[in-house]
Amino acid sequence: MTEQKSDNHRITAVTGATGAIGEAIARQLAENPRNEVVLICRDEDKAAGCVAQITRATGNPRVRYDLADLSRHSSIQALADRWSGPLHVLVNNAAVTPRRRESTPEGIERQFATNVLGYFWMVEAFTRCLKHSIPARVVNVASYWAGGLDIEDLEFKHRPYDNNAAYRQSKQANRMLTVAFAKRLQPFDITVNACHPGDVNSTLSGNLGFGGHESPDEGARTPVWLATDEIGSQRTGKYFEHRREVGCPFAADPKAVEALFTACQAYGI
Ligand SMILES: NC(=O)c1ccc[n+]([C@@H]2O[C@H](COP(=O)([O-])OP(=O)(O)OC[C@H]3O[C@@H](n4cnc5c(N)ncnc54)[C@H](OP(=O)(O)O)[C@@H]3O)[C@@H](O)[C@H]2O)c1
Repeated sequence: MTEQKSDNHRITAVTGATGAIGEAIARQLAENPRNEVVLICRDEDKAAGCVAQITRATGNPRVRYDLADLSRHSSIQALADRWSGPLHVLVNNAAVTPRRRESTPEGIERQFATNVLGYFWMVEAFTRCLKHSIPARVVNVASYWAGGLDIEDLEFKHRPYDNNAAYRQSKQANRMLTVAFAKRLQPFDITVNACHPGDVNSTLSGNLGFGGHESPDEGARTPVWLATDEIGSQRTGKYFEHRREVGCPFAADPKAVEALFTACQAYGI
């Protein structure tokens, strides 16, 4: 692999950057002129508006967007195929919490498709770019609000759909897949870590019936820290809250982690 260590210029992709926390992550990253920031969004008008706003706020001319529906493998693959140049940092952040069970055009339950497979497919599709951009990192925005994963029923086909249960499962999956990818990518000098951002008012938290006592900027702090601080290249496969490493019970069962990884792989066809 060619090593492209750019001391002056690092390219970071942030998914869900039109949302509350994603916009703040992208803006905080853009405050450093070394960072080129690519907002990965599904709505072109919103994306263009966010780029204009962040460029105005930071004075960084290297902020741009690209489009993808992160609930669809074909859309993520097309994004990766047209990506030219390196990718030093991938921040997986986009997620949804629909109140009623919805499916993607491929027939996959939407929370699982976006929150879990979206992260999974982004890492898989961009691994080639990350390998050409070492040392590289992946930051998975997860949550402390996580649990209840049923490997036999990832899409709520057998349990009644409940958006809170589907969300908690998806965030547990983010944390487990962080461990699985960290193991696979460590030999290539690519780290993969997960974090809880903060409790922030947003479409996502509103659908779950939660308010938020933290600002989007506070919510962005831990993901941005993992994306930029030395710690994000020194640690891998770890979970962080408020810029502190926290033990993760979901990482403790390697068989369960591998079973989830295999289940996700089966969707990438
Ligand atoms: N808010 C909290 O209190 C909280 C707490 C813990 C963890 N988190 C985590 O933080 C992350 C961000 O949450 P948030 O509160 O900032 O949510 P948000 O404001 O609702 O933003 C969600 C973002 O995801 C994008 N998105 C959704 N589906 C997509 C798709 N199919 N393709 C492309 N983009 C898509 C949305 O795009 P549109 O703008 O086009 O809808 C939006 O930019 C999530 O991973 C969440 O689990 C949040």
